[in-house]
Amino acid sequence: MVIFYFSGTGNAKQIALWIAGFAQKKQIDCQTFSIEKTDINDVKALCTDALIAIVSPIHGFNFPKRALDFISLFPKGSNNVVLMNTRGGLKIGRLVTPGLTGVAFYLSSYILMRKGYQIVGHIPFDMPSNWISIHPALNQPTVKYIYEKNYSRVEKHCNKILEGKPDFFSNREIIQDVLISPVSLGYYFAGKYFFAKSFYASEECDNCGICIKQCPVKAIKIVNDRPFWTSRCESCMRCMNSCPKKAIETAHGLIATTSVMSSLILSWLLGDILAINIQPGFIRFSFFSLIFFALLWIFYKLQHLLLRNKLIGKFIPYASLTHYKFWGRYKNATWHSK
Ligand SMILES: Cc1cc2nc3c(=O)[nH]c(=O)nc-3n(C[C@H](O)[C@H](O)[C@H](O)COP(=O)(O)O)c2cc1C
Ligand code: SF4
Ligand code: SF4
Repeated sequence: MVIFYFSGTGNAKQIALWIAGFAQKKQIDCQTFSIEKTDINDVKALCTDALIAIVSPIHGFNFPKRALDFISLFPKGSNNVVLMNTRGGLKIGRLVTPGLTGVAFYLSSYILMRKGYQIVGHIPFDMPSNWISIHPALNQPTVKYIYEKNYSRVEKHCNKILEGKPDFFSNREIIQDVLISPVSLGYYFAGKYFFAKSFYASEECDNCGICIKQCPVKAIKIVNDRPFWTSRCESCMRCMNSCPKKAIETAHGLIATTSVMSSLILSWLLGDILAINIQPGFIRFSFFSLIFFALLWIFYKLQHLLLRNKLIGKFIPYASLTHYKFWGRYKNATWHSK
């Protein structure tokens, strides 16, 4: 068995390692490879006739671009492939709420089947949500609880797959996955650029360079002696959760300002300059989205420059929820396999 994983903050990697452990218990040779470190030209030689598993987090109801690009570049083959994901689970009482897969499995299966592969499984795992741009980080007991729940689920599904049985557990969610598909396309083509531009480094940053080194898609570069997030960013959350100075923030204040300013500017444009009705609707939508993103970019550049000013640099983080202690940072559980 060969497992390829893409992982921002360690959840998908943990699933890959658990599977490898279960396979080895059954005397099945199993190797794990990180997608970000694997040369696609080596895939054929690595896989030969092995069962292939691909594990990746869900970002915006789809696999992130880095994982999808890897799948798209797969060589032709006829191996059996099982697709797995880690989604954002939250804990309410003793219940772990399920995340949403969206189009991830269908799109990847379509790409792989066209290359000749046989899809033998679609299995989601509700690991702790790491999306701390939009909610406070889960605390350690919660993370540990969700990890423990998943460990036995991984074992159950893994056994089924290793016994050669198909496992399409995610089929029971087909209705919500189809309903959410327009949002997944919206996130892929527009939303992720918005989130990519929501990060900045506060004055706590000491330019250690760890975030730049660790980014799986090389999305951070130095501009004006400060880390700067380019639109390549996949919002995988690795940098924000691993910065030793907790200096990486989500610019909630900037987003709120940009949204208000953009709607004011757009309504002014709509009312006065563009009294003509742009048709069809999707061209109007694309046009104004373009203006919105251009404004976001300008505001972001401006914020990046303003952060260089000592006084303003102190003030800006107060408008970022990530700056406050209660928000925290996500750390995956230090897990010891039973
Ligand atoms: C930008 C972003 C988008 C996300 N979108 C979804 C989503 O659409 N559905 C979901 O269930 N979880 C979503 N999540 C949660 C992650 O998929 C989940 O926490 C996953 O376990 C992280 O895995 P990793 O640690 O391997 O990166 C999102 C997380 C991030 C950072
Ligand atoms: S990891 Fe944190 S402190 Fe280091 S360069 Fe990045 S933002 Fe600055
Ligand atoms: S910049 Fe940060 S959040 Fe974006 S892809 Fe790189 S490590 Fe992930």
